Amino acid sequence: MKPDYSELIKKSIEAKKFSYSPYSNFSVGVALLTESNKVFTGTNVENASYSLSICAERVAFTKAISEGETKFRAVAISSSKDKYIYPCGACRQFMHEFGGDTDVIIVRSENDFKIIKLSELLPGAFDKNSLIN
Ligand code: THU
Repeated sequence: MKPDYSELIKKSIEAKKFSYSPYSNFSVGVALLTESNKVFTGTNVENASYSLSICAERVAFTKAISEGETKFRAVAISSSKDKYIYPCGACRQFMHEFGGDTDVIIVRSENDFKIIKLSELLPGAFDKNSLIN
């Protein structure tokens, strides 16, 4: 049975309110649950030099990792669109670095979400094992 992610889902929805996305007008909110049961949130931060924009997922992961957390149970991702929004390819790779077993919760609303393993979103991932003989 899957854990109850309702609080994490709510936090991902709340995290959107700080989105800085004047160029795309597309808000993304993330709530990341660590193995030690802490939650780190993130939102997308855009820039007039568009390519410098940072996705919400990488903001949340970077916040957690920079505070010593490297093991994650789940990441909830919500957006301002009324549909399921999956993480971009760059974020799949970035998050996978810390383990493919993490549950990814794709949130459409508090009561409408899908749960999928990060490894399923990045089959054949390039990871630390790829670098050794
Ligand atoms: N974005 C995210 O924050 N996460 C994703 O996985 C996909 C895209 C943001 C980046 C940009 O600010 C906006 O959504 C539109 O691409």
